[in-house]
Formats: sequence, structure tokens, C-alpha cells
Amino acid sequence: MADTSKTATLTFGDKSIELPVLEGTAGPNVIDIRKLYGQGGVFTYDPGFTSTAACDSEITYIDGDEGILLHRGYPIDQLAEKSHFLEVCYLLLYGELPTGEQIEKFEHLVTNHTMIHEQMHYFFRGFRRDAHPMATMVGVVGAMSAFYHDSTDISDEHQREVASIRLIAKMPTIAAMAYKYSIGQPFVYPRNDLDYASNFLRMCFSVPAEEYQVNPILSRAMDRIFTLHADHEQNASTSTVRLASSSGANPFACIAAGIACLWGPAHGGANQACLEMLREIGTVDRIPEYIARAKDKNDPFRLMGFGHRVYKNFDPRATVMKKSADEVLELMGIENNPTLQVAKELERLALEDPYFAEKKLYPNVDFYSGIILDAMGFPTSMFTPIFALARTVGWISQWKEQISDPQLKIGRPRQLYQGPTQRDYVDVENR
Ligand code: CMC
Repeated sequence: MADTSKTATLTFGDKSIELPVLEGTAGPNVIDIRKLYGQGGVFTYDPGFTSTAACDSEITYIDGDEGILLHRGYPIDQLAEKSHFLEVCYLLLYGELPTGEQIEKFEHLVTNHTMIHEQMHYFFRGFRRDAHPMATMVGVVGAMSAFYHDSTDISDEHQREVASIRLIAKMPTIAAMAYKYSIGQPFVYPRNDLDYASNFLRMCFSVPAEEYQVNPILSRAMDRIFTLHADHEQNASTSTVRLASSSGANPFACIAAGIACLWGPAHGGANQACLEMLREIGTVDRIPEYIARAKDKNDPFRLMGFGHRVYKNFDPRATVMKKSADEVLELMGIENNPTLQVAKELERLALEDPYFAEKKLYPNVDFYSGIILDAMGFPTSMFTPIFALARTVGWISQWKEQISDPQLKIGRPRQLYQGPTQRDYVDVENR
């Protein structure tokens, strides 16, 4: 973060305060207000953090106006096309693309940490069968801190490294187990001769009575979905992980907090909500009715999979996802899938509509991911767990970056108090 030697002057009442302006390598400059309260006795007010940079970071950059997403400088479409998920994990975690030897070692490390402690199986059995797999994941990932004591000391760099690998390696196993439990099938143990995505598909779809043959095109599509969800700058769940971590909480607790935040329909839960919406619309002739509802201020309905806080242009992940959806559906021989037809027509009509154009609402990553996952055989309840699995590396990378920052402080926002001012307690008989 270079100091431009520029300052901004804030004048209010009889005070005038000089605030430093800091410049990043890309994106808007920031006004450093850290000393504002000390010097001016005022806070800034920004609910929803629409104009607030909460940290500095070297991991992911988004230009929302241009629809650009870079991981460590590399565009997401290039990574989705040419790289693979574990290589992207390495890039996010360590900052550079790995050499052949480095990626081999990294893949070996991740592959050899895919099993979970056998005793953890009992946790799953404690949940109701109809529990949402996200509920199960929040609980089980949080419970990892009760099992992996040798990787919870955040002041020890080696332990941080072990926790990172464990989380990336075990998340597919945990997500697949949450799924298997919810449908009453036995857990399937990971297989180390399979790549990351194939292993996950097999753990979800194999049964003891019948081996699951992983289709390489589907495993490539799965890998690409993981890549497209790997990190996304300071979104709600990542900020939750950072805030939890700022108190010194252990990594498993922090990631469990991130999973809980991701679940909401405005964030990672949108992929499930989007497919359910497309199914509810059902046929293309009903689309205008839903578009009218989305535009009606008196109706809380929103087009799921549309709009983004940062992107005011196409979400670059959605563009890759759409292409991938076409490939997968063609492979499965279901190009005439009615849900896809509704999705394509809805996208077309919404983009032509002045309401969406004026508000710069474009399809986001969740608009097409559900269609692919559905075609692969996943129920909608598994869409958000898959997002959580893939985002784990982003959370972990941001967590590692934050912990190594010598300026780390506990996150402690302030407020604009609107409640009663001080008053005296009144005994119950006098109220
Ligand atoms: N359908 C209809 N109107 C919308 C939509 C939508 N999907 N999204 C935003 N608007 C309108 C909103 O009503 C508001 O109108 P007005 O200015 O007249 O009050 C305006 O657009 C701005 O919306 P906002 O809620 O102030 O914007 P935000 O940046 O706070 O919210 C969002 C961003 C993603 C939560 C929102 O666009 C949304 O709810 N989208 C649907 C859910 C969704 O697809 N979420 C996934 C996001 S991408 C993956 C991820 O982050 O996990």
C-alpha cells in the first residue's frame, strides 16, 4: 500500500482534519480514517460497507464496472480455462503459480489429508436426517477444532499451514458425508488415486452396491465450478471469517462462521434459491409475471442469480458458467432442459428490460451454476455446500494473510446510537 502523499480534508463545524489518501496497485484510492475519531471525535457511517475498505489485501481484485476478476493478477476466465482447482488453491494460498514439482507436492499433501477422524462420524449421526447439509457442515467444521488440536495455535506458522491443508482436503469429504447422511446412504471414504473433483463426485454418488464411474467431462465441469467459486475478495462470508479471526479464534471456528454466513440467500444460498425460482417459473410464458414481481417495490421478490454489490456489468464467472452449462447439458443429452430454457429466456428478457439496465443488474455466478449441478444429479440443498467447499481456500488464504499482518487488530465497528439516553431504573410496582 503506497502512500501517495495526498490527503483529503474533512471539514465539519469548526474543525478541519487532514486524512491520508492511500493508493493500491489497482482500484479506487482509500481515505485513511483510522485517526478520525481520535482527532475529530466522529465516526464514519456506512452500514452494509458500501464505501468501506476493511483491510488491504494482495489476493483478489475485482473491477465491478468492467466485469473483471483477478486472482493474484490472473483473470478468472484464463484460470477456468487453463488451470485446475488445486493449482488455483496454490496460487491463492502462496501468491504464485506453482512449478511442476511444487504442484505435485501440494496435490500429494491435500490428497493425503482427505479422511476425517473416524470418531467425527458420530457427529453426523447426531443430526436429524432432514437437516440441511449446510447446517451439518457448520456444526462439523466447527467441531474440527475439537479433534485437530495440533493445528489450532494460530501463532505457530506450521500449525496454520497444517490447518489450511486439512480444511481444503477434508471439506469435500465433509460435504459428501452431509449429503450421504441426508439421503440415508452409507458414507463413502475418499480415494487417493482420484483427483480432487472426481473424488468428490465419487464420494457423493458411489454406493457399496455399485461403483460410480467418474465421467471426465463432469469432473472437469465440477473442477471448473470449484475454480469459479474459489475466492471473491471481501464478500460477506470472507469478511465474517476475517472478523471472527481478528479475535484470535482458531481456523476451524472461523471457517464455520464463514459457512454460516454463506448460507443466506443474498450470498451463497442464492444458487439453491435461483434453481428453485427457475423451477417455480416452470415455463417461458410465465417469465413476464416474475419480472413484473421483481420490479414491484411492494413485492419482496427478487430475481435470484441477478445483481451484485460489486459487479455493475456481467459477472465474469457467470459467462464461463453459462458456457460450461451448455457443455454439460449437451453431454448429458438434455439440451432441451426446460429449466435451462427458462433461464436463457429470463436472462434475455431481463437484460432487455430498462429496470435491470438502469440498476445495472446482470446475471451473477449463481444464475447458471445450479443448472449444471442439477444436471450432475445434485439436489438443490447441495448447491450451497459445494460453494462452501470451493470458497474454503479463499477464506483460508484471506485468514492466513490477515494473521501474518503485523498491524492486525480486533475488528470492532462502532455505531450511531439511536436508543434511549440514560434514565433511572423504575421499580416494577411503579411502571
Ligand atoms: N431483482 C430485482 N431487483 C433487484 C435485484 C434483483 N435480484 N437486486 C437488486 N435489485 C434492486 C433493488 O431492489 C434496489 O432497487 P432500489 O434502488 O430501487 O431500491 C437496487 O436494485 C439495488 O439493490 P441493493 O439491494 O441495494 O443492492 P446490494 O448491493 O445491497 O445487493 C445483492 C446485492 C446481490 C444482495 C442483490 O442484487 C440481490 O439480492 N440479488 C439476488 C440474490 C443473489 O443472486 N445473490 C448472489 C450474489 S453473487 C454470489 C454471492 O455473492 O454469493
